[in-house]
Amino acid sequence: MRYIWLFLSLGPCALFAQHKPLFDTTGTAAKLQWFTDAKLGIFIHWGIYSVKGVGESWSFHNGAMPHADYMQQIKGFTAKHYDPAAWAELIRKSGAKYAVITTKHHDGVALYHTQLVPGGRKKPLSVVAASPCGRDVIAPFFTELRMRDIKCGAYFSLIDWSDPDYPGFLRDSSRYKVADDPARWQRFSTYNQGQIEELCKRFKPDLFWFDGDWEHTAEEWQAAKIRAMILKDNPKAIINGRLQGYGDYATPEQNIPIETPPGPWELCLTSNDNWGWQPQDTVYKSTHDLIHIFADVIGHGGNLLLDIGPKEDGTIPPGQVKLLEEIGQWTGAHAEAIYGTLAGLPNGHFYGPTTLSKDSTTLYLFLPGGTGGSALIKGLDNKILSAEVVGKPIALTHRVVGKISWSKVPGLVFVDVPEEAKDPWMTVLKLKLDGPVKLYRGQGGFN
Ligand code: GLC
Repeated sequence: MRYIWLFLSLGPCALFAQHKPLFDTTGTAAKLQWFTDAKLGIFIHWGIYSVKGVGESWSFHNGAMPHADYMQQIKGFTAKHYDPAAWAELIRKSGAKYAVITTKHHDGVALYHTQLVPGGRKKPLSVVAASPCGRDVIAPFFTELRMRDIKCGAYFSLIDWSDPDYPGFLRDSSRYKVADDPARWQRFSTYNQGQIEELCKRFKPDLFWFDGDWEHTAEEWQAAKIRAMILKDNPKAIINGRLQGYGDYATPEQNIPIETPPGPWELCLTSNDNWGWQPQDTVYKSTHDLIHIFADVIGHGGNLLLDIGPKEDGTIPPGQVKLLEEIGQWTGAHAEAIYGTLAGLPNGHFYGPTTLSKDSTTLYLFLPGGTGGSALIKGLDNKILSAEVVGKPIALTHRVVGKISWSKVPGLVFVDVPEEAKDPWMTVLKLKLDGPVKLYRGQGGFN
């Protein structure tokens, strides 16, 4: 007989153990608890690239425009309608429990009040020092987030293509090789790490979201040192996986994983096709599609980090506001099936995403195909104490079909789903089980 007893074995703790981390993971699972419970985060790409609405940093790196023209955009970054309270409020309404904002992208322009001066310049390269905005835009945002109990994430690009001491510059031309001029690389590293330390001390971010680690090795970045420095100041800070093996969780980008990544993970996803604001990019993923993606992600134990790109004046495009508000209606109505849940049933038991309550006695079924007809669950070896619709006072009937009295193999469960159960975006059912979920995973037959 082939039975898998799926108690709490899908929790982050167990999964994390499958990693071979390069650092001491004591306490990591506990530290990650708020993150794995949070499920939804909002990513914000805001920078001087939103002045002309060009690709963030990549537009000069890939040669779509000269670096000098790109950098000129700083003169147009006004943030004149920036309302950090409204941003935080929109994020709260979406149901996100954390936000991650670009404090410095690959273009090297800081959005906070850095005191440090990069190679070849007399003053810091920031919107505070060089743009008409003239102020730190990160500080008030984090304050507003914290007033709403939303965790604060600092995106920081390790790459800094504008710094003359950084080797990489354009796609087809770099300045030097680290091995040929270690002193120059060290100058850059001191500057870059100094900025990370500034962020630590000034903001105590709950989460560091590094990016661009692919351009150098862990040794070159001094990733172990960066990790230790962050945790010294703020032992509870979570570090994303883009620190060459020294992060706490995986960050698949744009494409939904088919194989669930081992350990905690987060899918970062644009709401249209680009991270930052671009005027021509007005085709958004629909609320329906995003909710279906979100359900799939949390059903596999991940988080969704959904991106928005505000304009240079601080306004958020109406299409993005609408998306976040609609997602919020759905997350609000289905909160119990989302927050603090565990990954659901392994593939094969139900044609759609599922989640489980932390004690594994409540199973949530996310119906991909709307309603009408019934939902079929295979191999569920529990009694169902009750079945209902999440967010609506509708009790459901269910049938167990094909149970052979003398065989241990469970019958098929059909839950009838009436039309009135239908949610405009995605209907969710709740099954209370007689104990922690037990599954039959065999190949059929009688045992
Ligand atoms: C990529 C890109 C970057 C973007 C990031 C978000 O790494 O380099 O532009 O900020 O993805 O995940």
